[in-house]
Amino acid sequence: MNKVIVYGSTYGTTRQYAEELSKRTHIKALSFKDSTLQINDYDLIIYLGGLYAGGVLGMAKTLKKIKDISSKQFIIVTVGLSDPTDEVNRKNIRNNIKGQIAKEVFGKAKIFHLRGGIDYSRLSFVHKTMMELVYKKVKNLPEEKQSAEDKALIETYNKSVNFLDFSSLDEIIKEGQLI
Ligand SMILES: Cc1cc2nc3c(=O)[nH]c(=O)nc-3n(C[C@H](O)[C@H](O)[C@H](O)COP(=O)(O)O)c2cc1C
Repeated sequence: MNKVIVYGSTYGTTRQYAEELSKRTHIKALSFKDSTLQINDYDLIIYLGGLYAGGVLGMAKTLKKIKDISSKQFIIVTVGLSDPTDEVNRKNIRNNIKGQIAKEVFGKAKIFHLRGGIDYSRLSFVHKTMMELVYKKVKNLPEEKQSAEDKALIETYNKSVNFLDFSSLDEIIKEGQLI
């Protein structure tokens, strides 16, 4: 079976997870932007994408190029700032994914969530502005109305935090039978 790891990463945390997964499984890892990526050549596609305003970076664009979904298997891994052990958070992420890809792909995909990091001093102007707008919106909400995502944003706002944990790849390797 031909397998590939594809990742969508702006600031490198998702790329680091993808590269570590590649190292452990000996499956090639490529950015979704890599011009050599021929997505239709693979039977198992492991897509890792950073979460940006609910979207999984590069996922929809990459998976749209697949011609015969029926012959493929999918593992989708999100990397975000919010706590993936929070059930509501996981549900929100899954619902967002559902709206971004074909029903058949969603139905077949094994979905996992990892935690990334953020360094505000490295954010682009657009991303900084987006985060500022969301921060201003959520910080005045009563605590019981704040979601796990809101809380993560408030706690980490304007800081540099790194929640990368390579041991969280173990579950993906095991359940995906990648080695
Ligand atoms: C503009 C912006 C929007 C983001 N939106 C989300 C989000 O909706 N959910 C989440 O959990 N994390 C969100 N994050 C945090 C990123 O997912 C996190 O920093 C991730 O590690 C980025 O991956 P990368 O370093 O591979 O680009 C956002 C970060 C930025 C800058």
